[in-house]
This record gives sequence, structure tokens and C-alpha cells, in this order.
Amino acid sequence: MRYLIGIDIGTSATKTILMDEEGNVAAQAVRDYPLYQPDNGWAEQAPEDWQQAALETLKQVVEQSGVNGDDIKGIGLSGQMHGLVMLDEAGNPIRRSIIWCDQRSGQQVDEMLKLLPYEKWLEITANPPIAAWTAAKLLWVKRHEPEVYAKCRHILLPKDYIRYVLTGQFATDVSDASGMQMLDVKNRCWSDEVLEALGVQKDMLGKVYESQEVTGRLLQSVAEKCGLTADVKVVAGSADNAGAAIGTGVVRDGDAFTSIGTSALVYTHMDHYTPIPEGSLHLCCSCVPGCWFTMGGPQAAGLSLEWFKDNYCQDYKEKAKKDGRSTYDLINEAAADIGPGSERLIFMPYLMGERTPHMNPRCRGAFVGLNIIHTKAHLLRAIMEGVAYSLADCNNILKNLGIAVEDMRVCGGGSKSPVWRRIMADLYGCNIIQLEQEEGPAYGVAILAGVGTGVYDDVRDVSKKLARCGRVTVPDEEEAAVYRRYHALYDRLYDHRILMICMNCKGTVPRRVNNIGYSTGSR
Ligand code: XUL
Repeated sequence: MRYLIGIDIGTSATKTILMDEEGNVAAQAVRDYPLYQPDNGWAEQAPEDWQQAALETLKQVVEQSGVNGDDIKGIGLSGQMHGLVMLDEAGNPIRRSIIWCDQRSGQQVDEMLKLLPYEKWLEITANPPIAAWTAAKLLWVKRHEPEVYAKCRHILLPKDYIRYVLTGQFATDVSDASGMQMLDVKNRCWSDEVLEALGVQKDMLGKVYESQEVTGRLLQSVAEKCGLTADVKVVAGSADNAGAAIGTGVVRDGDAFTSIGTSALVYTHMDHYTPIPEGSLHLCCSCVPGCWFTMGGPQAAGLSLEWFKDNYCQDYKEKAKKDGRSTYDLINEAAADIGPGSERLIFMPYLMGERTPHMNPRCRGAFVGLNIIHTKAHLLRAIMEGVAYSLADCNNILKNLGIAVEDMRVCGGGSKSPVWRRIMADLYGCNIIQLEQEEGPAYGVAILAGVGTGVYDDVRDVSKKLARCGRVTVPDEEEAAVYRRYHALYDRLYDHRILMICMNCKGTVPRRVNNIGYSTGSR
């Protein structure tokens, strides 16, 4: 039997799995690390923490499985997108990574628009300039930390830093590279025009590969440390969501899934390059060669629930501990007791600003409609509903583009919540389908490693074969009718001028760019 490994560099933890060629997970290991928030809206992680987590979990799965190192054929890497990792000449990180949910670079969107017109960004990178993507973060460092920028010789994404640690190679894959805003997304290569405008030398970036291509082999020192051989090949891998698509069987035109983790999104596979009008959803290269995907959704999904749990649910935590249960089980039970609409309470999930559909890094979250009747359970359910309203907005953009999702697969921690699945089914108006075995992006990139090393022939076939559908949640028309009313209210709230002023930290209203993107200039 041959074996494959997938390593996912997530935001809360690194998860590594080892699976056999039939797709059965033989071992898995998780190791978490801190998220640093040195200022309001900032989010950073230490590449050294990812490195330690990746090496430790790699060693752990090999030991746990008892599999002979010679039988392990390949490793796939996936990771949180958009994070900026800067290395010096010697390959050492020169600052902590500014990660995907960091919102400090709003001003850099204006700078980007001075470098190239809005339409050019959209034409080449398939997306409007986005504060949370890597290019804007790089410009922020250039402007605010010129001494750091001057030392930088290599610019990598989080999982590609781990590739460098494992193989010594500087490389990336098309799906993750799409989220740096330097890639010509249609032609799947770095854009000379964008690099020149940003002042970035091409050799500072990794070589771009298709996701299943082999980028190198394990360094002898790493192989020895982890109980593997230096013959193990490391494939390019993917952005976390693109990897999850392979793991959930979302590989043919119109296939879609929703993932609820720290952030949440609706992801749709596309066989053909189809520009999204005004960039209202992200458009990126898929792990299936010659294909693309769209995605959109709230930045703070699981994060909103976690924020509320950590600050206001001490009683649930204590009870869960006493009963030997998870706090999230109690949260789900409490939310299930509240009716749709949470007694006219609406949560706007903008705790980390927002990208799709608003592209407004400075907007802030809110509970709107609080009344003496409301309990903690109402607030919890309202958080789940707020996240789902935002997801439904993105799904509606897809519908307007003529992409009607019939069956929505789900993955990520939040998809384990029956209440959240029910709310999504009602708001999307389609079936919600869980997977029999859901291991997320790590599973998807282990599959890609199998394709790259010849264990499997075709990425689509094996993805469809291994992603077996499980439980189905069907929409309830009565509840859906209630949600349609609340959803309309939620949408109107965002456009409400007074609320917008309250939600912006400096009391300014963001200026719309081409009706969709927001620049942050005050007025
Ligand atoms: C997608 C995105 C997040 C991260 C977090 O654009 O930023 O999904 O990849 O995992």
C-alpha cells in the first residue's frame, strides 16, 4: 500500500494527515499557535511557529501510523491565503507574517489604484485591489517599515514558506498565487506589468506550478528528523479553499461548497475563465489544471462565534467542562431553541472589516435590534444568521451570474453545527450536503500529492471517487420565508448611512469604487 501526506497551515493550527491510497486517514496530528494582534484590526503570525508545527505534526503522523517511510510517496501543502512572508538573503524571516485577516492596508488600495487603473487590476489579476491580499500588505511594509523592506529577498505565502523549510525550494502554486494579486490569473503566470507597477523583482517570488506538479524532494535533514526518506516528493499544493474543493469533490462546472472556519465562503468551480463583473466575488485559478473558481464570504465567521464564546460564554464553558462536552455543543443547543430571525435581532459580522461583497476593510460589526427579550442564546443564533446572510449575498451574486447551485456541499468546523446547516439550507434555498469523511484542505492536498506522484491518474476522477456524500439538510419553505424578510433588512442595514458612519472607526464613509470596491479615502 502507498501512502500520502497533506499538511495544512491554518490560522488556528496546522493539521497534518497521513492517508493510504484508498483515501483512508491512517493518522492525523494538530498543533496550534498564537495569533498576534499588535493593533486594532492587525493580525500576524510567526513563520517559525508554522515551521515548528509542520515539522512536529509531520513526525507525529509518521510515528503514529507505523507506516514504513519508503511507502510514503508524496506530500501536499495547503494553507491560509494572502499572508505575507518576507525572508532575507539567508532565507530567514525578517518580520512576523501579516496574515489574511489583517486590515491595516486599506490605504494601500488607493496607492494601488494610482499605480494601475482599476480596470487593469481587474483584467490582469481577475480581482479589484483588495486590502487583505498580499500586494497591499507588501506596499504597507514598503511605506511603513522601509528598513524591513530593504532586507527582503524572498516573498512567500505561508504554505510556501513551509515548502522552503521542507525542500529548500522557492515555489508556489497557481491557486494560492492568485490571492497575492500579482498573478495573471487567466494565463496562470506572474504578471510582468503588475510586478513592474509594484516594484517587485520576479526573482523575489517563487516559481509558479500547477497544484499537482512536483516542486522538489525532502531535504535529507528534514527526512531524517521526521522518519521519512529524501525520496519523498513535495507537490505544489494549494490555497486552503482550493484544496478543500478537491477534498469535497467540487471539481466540475457548477459544483460548489460552503466552508465555515475562522472565515467562511461559498466556493464554485468553473471549467472556463469567466470574469466576474466588477470583481464582486474573488476569481482564482483552481487546482484542476485549466480551471478556475470563485469564492466570497465573510472574514469573521467562526471567528465571530469564537469571539462571543471567549468573551461572554464562561458559564457554557464551565458547564461543558463539568459534563465532559464541547462548549460548541451547548452553543448549538441554545441556538436551536430560538426561532428563525432571533426575535428580530440582526448581527453584522464585520469584526475584521469585510471583503466580498462589500470590499470595506474599515467597516465594523454590530448587533441591531436588541430588546429586553433577548438572551445569550438569541445573540448566538443571530451570529450564525449574520454569517449566513453574508454567505447568501455571495450566493445571490452567483445566481445573478447564472450559476444556480443545486446541492451545496459543506465543510469546516461550523458545518458540524446542525443549526448552521439548517439556516444555510433555508437561505440558499438548496440542499446542504455533508461529506462522509471530512478532513478539509489537508485531505485535498494529499490527493494532489497522489496525482503528482503517479498514485492516481486524474485529479477530478479521484476527487469525485474519494469525496463521498453523507447527511443532507433540506430547506424548509416556512422558515425560508421568514429569512427572506430578515435578509432584506440585513442588506439594507449595510447601506444605511448613519450606521455606516458609526461602523467606520474615523467617522468617515468609504467611497465606492465602480459600485463594488471601496476605497478608504475619507471625505
Ligand atoms: C480566502 C481567505 C481565507 C483564508 C483563511 O480568501 O482569506 O479563507 O485562506 O483560511
